[in-house]
Amino acid sequence: SSILLIFVFYTFQMENTTLLELAENYGTPLYVYDGDVIAAKVERLRAAFKEVNMKIKYACKANTNISVLALMKKLGVDIDVVSPQEMKLALSAGFSPEQITFTSSGVGFDEIEACVNEGVLVNIDNLSTLEKFGQKYGSSLPVFIRIRPNVAGGGNEKISTGHGNSKFGIPIEQKGEILKLVNKYQLRIVGLHQHTGSDIKDGSTFVQAAEVMFELAKDFDNLQYLDFGGGFKVPYKEGDVETDMEDLGVQLSARFKAFCASYGRELELWFEPGKYLVSESGLLLASVNVVKNNPNGTLLGLNTGLNHLIRPMMYDAYHGVYNISKAKEEASKRYNIVGYMCETDDIAKDRTLPETEEGDIMAIRNAGAYGFTMASNYNSRFRPAEVLYYQGKSHLVRKRETMEDILKNQILIEL
Ligand code: LLP
Repeated sequence: SSILLIFVFYTFQMENTTLLELAENYGTPLYVYDGDVIAAKVERLRAAFKEVNMKIKYACKANTNISVLALMKKLGVDIDVVSPQEMKLALSAGFSPEQITFTSSGVGFDEIEACVNEGVLVNIDNLSTLEKFGQKYGSSLPVFIRIRPNVAGGGNEKISTGHGNSKFGIPIEQKGEILKLVNKYQLRIVGLHQHTGSDIKDGSTFVQAAEVMFELAKDFDNLQYLDFGGGFKVPYKEGDVETDMEDLGVQLSARFKAFCASYGRELELWFEPGKYLVSESGLLLASVNVVKNNPNGTLLGLNTGLNHLIRPMMYDAYHGVYNISKAKEEASKRYNIVGYMCETDDIAKDRTLPETEEGDIMAIRNAGAYGFTMASNYNSRFRPAEVLYYQGKSHLVRKRETMEDILKNQILIEL
């Protein structure tokens, strides 16, 4: 099927020999990102929405390595940040303030000010914050509003943001209050935003949320942008159904065009994908520390764990795992793959792999999004190094941490 072809296409760009060389040169655990996969995803999204004026605002929380950000810039992708620190990273990577949007969620007003002071457009998700914004800036600055459309999207509860009980966005029911603030402070609302969750496989969720936005947009006179968020589902295992981007492109573009015609102005359609752009580009390479023959099955203990990739434990997320050292051998044995932390940090259960030995190099797939950015120093271990491979060349883009990093900021007192 086409889904399977796409899966194969996006995950087998890099040769196994190249990966083994990288593991050899830089050691493991090692995050490796394939920039050509990122470029292909950008192209695919653009092609699907070529009928409308679509802009990609990469949700950089998925992967904030500044060289990955610089690649996005080179590809003509803008950036969505969720903290002043991410904003600074984007600026460090070479983005100009106009290319950055700050999508805040329950932040202190000082963070709004920090971004405004750099000339970054802010997206506000709370009535009291909007009031403060009005008091301080009035109509002097353009601003975005994040709406909660009461559309439930998302692969699991932890990553659903559009439903009625969610903490994200201003509830659509409070439209009257929003409009009152807009009038009171003459706010220049240039865009409306919504994001209903992550791992949304059903394109109709986006269409449904868009209909809510179109309806709401009628009440705002000066809109330039409608932002439909991120959250496209990517395949994690063979046969997985991902968001049908081409179909969504057709469905949403037609509705968007019709809306623009009735609004009387050509708006920009924004998306802020994270996973869609970077998930499949990344592998986490790790070595097999131990093979343990338990009575109920064989365990492979890797030199990584929830400190580097928390998704399996936090969301029960499926990540493909394969043995690069034995890539040519037949998958013949079932394994459970676990981490090296003092926790039950299962990475993958019941996977059929070639007969695996201690010292083999394993690759964990879909590690490009929410891998390194959610990594920690738990058990006082170092976070991995990162490599970006692009157009045939690999570049070290983050050094492995050292003991100095662990000790930095700690203060030993005299007792
Ligand atoms: N826009 C907003 C406002 C968001 O909150 C998010 C993700 C995105 C865009 C990008 O969503 P994406 O395209 O990456 O699905 N750590 C979780 C995902 C949390 C997503 C948080 N917000 C995971 O690893 O599954």
